[in-house]
Amino acid sequence: MSTNFNEIKKRRTFAIISHPDAGKTTLTEKLLLYGGAINLAGSVKGRKTAKYAVSDWMDIEKERGISVTSSVLQFSYEGFCINILDTPGHQDFSEDTYRTLMAADSAVMVIDAGKGVEAQTRKLFKVCTLRHIPIFTFINKMDRESRDPFELMDEIEELLGIRTCPINWPIGCGKNFKGIYDRRERTITRYHAAHAGTHALETEVCSLDDPELGQRIGEDYRQQLAEEIELLDGASDGLDMERVSRGDLTPVFFGSALTNFGVETFLEHFLKMTSAPLPRKTRGGKVDPMKQDFFSAFVFKIQANMNKAHRDRIAFVRICSGEYRAGMEVTHVQGGRKVRLNQSTQMMADERKIVDHAYAGDIIGLFDPGIFAIGDTLTDARDPEPFEGIPTFAPEHFASLRQVDTMKRKQFTKGIDQIAQEGAIQIFREQNTGMEEIIVGAVGVLQFEVLTYRLKTEYNVEVRLDQLPYAYIRWIENPQEVDVDQIQGTSDMKIIQNLKGNPLLLFRHEWSIRMVEDRNPGLRLSEFGKG
Ligand code: G4P
Repeated sequence: MSTNFNEIKKRRTFAIISHPDAGKTTLTEKLLLYGGAINLAGSVKGRKTAKYAVSDWMDIEKERGISVTSSVLQFSYEGFCINILDTPGHQDFSEDTYRTLMAADSAVMVIDAGKGVEAQTRKLFKVCTLRHIPIFTFINKMDRESRDPFELMDEIEELLGIRTCPINWPIGCGKNFKGIYDRRERTITRYHAAHAGTHALETEVCSLDDPELGQRIGEDYRQQLAEEIELLDGASDGLDMERVSRGDLTPVFFGSALTNFGVETFLEHFLKMTSAPLPRKTRGGKVDPMKQDFFSAFVFKIQANMNKAHRDRIAFVRICSGEYRAGMEVTHVQGGRKVRLNQSTQMMADERKIVDHAYAGDIIGLFDPGIFAIGDTLTDARDPEPFEGIPTFAPEHFASLRQVDTMKRKQFTKGIDQIAQEGAIQIFREQNTGMEEIIVGAVGVLQFEVLTYRLKTEYNVEVRLDQLPYAYIRWIENPQEVDVDQIQGTSDMKIIQNLKGNPLLLFRHEWSIRMVEDRNPGLRLSEFGKG
């Protein structure tokens, strides 16, 4: 069967990144409404008040009300098939959140207009820049008191190192939010708080020096807008799609997700600016979904505990080329063997459904009897080649872990090995000590709770976990050139090694990293481990 390239062309696969509470869930809901994917806003997972997803997976999820079940939301809109990848953000922020970005073709960055660029956005942004994917910015909550839009542009440029190109511009904010001005179309969409979210919005063509505009939005606002647009036209970067596609320039949109203002405009522009699934690098070349018609995909996330009795897992894969058909036989490149892909699921807002067809750009969850690892390649190409691996992201929380009952060494080792293979935690040992104690690292502190809980319930091992005061880890990029024992460290530095025996450095303070780099000119440190 030949690949249906038309289906692939329709795909738009992106992730929404933001700091908690900036409005990611609200924006996602509104986007889904346009696609008619859900009838009522508020049914997307992640809402503090919502009923949680069909979570028969882990008790801890239920207890804490955290859903890790949802992975992708798919809906159709104006002939496009849109996949929004879920990037867990609250307490369930984890390495998976970073890895999900490896599966996206672009990212939408939601920023709270009152707060600007916040910590988690910076972290996620850094991962996006690793891949040079296009990043679109939605400045949210304009219906509230906001910071000066020029100041916000400067902050994005300075803190994130990406240039900005506002596509539209806000007129006032909060109680005095009048609407947005589309710079290219020269139209105004007016905001009426009383009608927010309920009325179809009309855009009006306007000239900024037309006195009638002054009557509509107020003369002061007209004048201010005219000045600001003049300033922007003179000083800001033009919309260069080449730079957008490299991730050097971000198109910026203003709006209010809660009142559904500016969301449709954003979606329309976004769909025009993003591209269909992009080529992906393999170790030796690249796979282009528009040219190659074999099936290829890589695993970017592993979800354990679908069924406690069987220790089943679901491996989430991003399809990079071709078509998935239920029952197809593919090569598991890293495992060096053929596997049949039978059960695949797709996660919708709050349910799982079985799919028997999927295309490049789509994410599917495959039944995994425990053979797949993060970054693995599946393909039916005649000459299978692995995709470039997924980097290891820096944990920010560290703890020492020891088993309470030393007789259960075997279960303990098996448990942590398997959990580490799923990618929720990373395991390290102290350098040059024969100690039994291990060090675990996690991106989100909740992972420690999950780890101790799972070791107890699945492996019957009680452990003692003591958090360590380190917050930064660095990989040594050139270990062959460095004598680790001779590193001139700082008092808060600790040398550890991963399971492959590679040395890494732990620090309590960020400034110590720079100090160690200064003291050891030959040493090259990296925030990401090679995949
Ligand atoms: P997140 O997924 O990024 O964490 O944010 P989420 O959408 O849950 O939004 C966080 C809070 O901000 C919510 O209020 C939400 O209603 C509000 N919000 C989102 N977009 C806008 C906006 O454009 N304008 C205004 N004024 N508020 C917005 P909450 O009270 O914390 O939750 P809820 O009770 O509304 O669910």
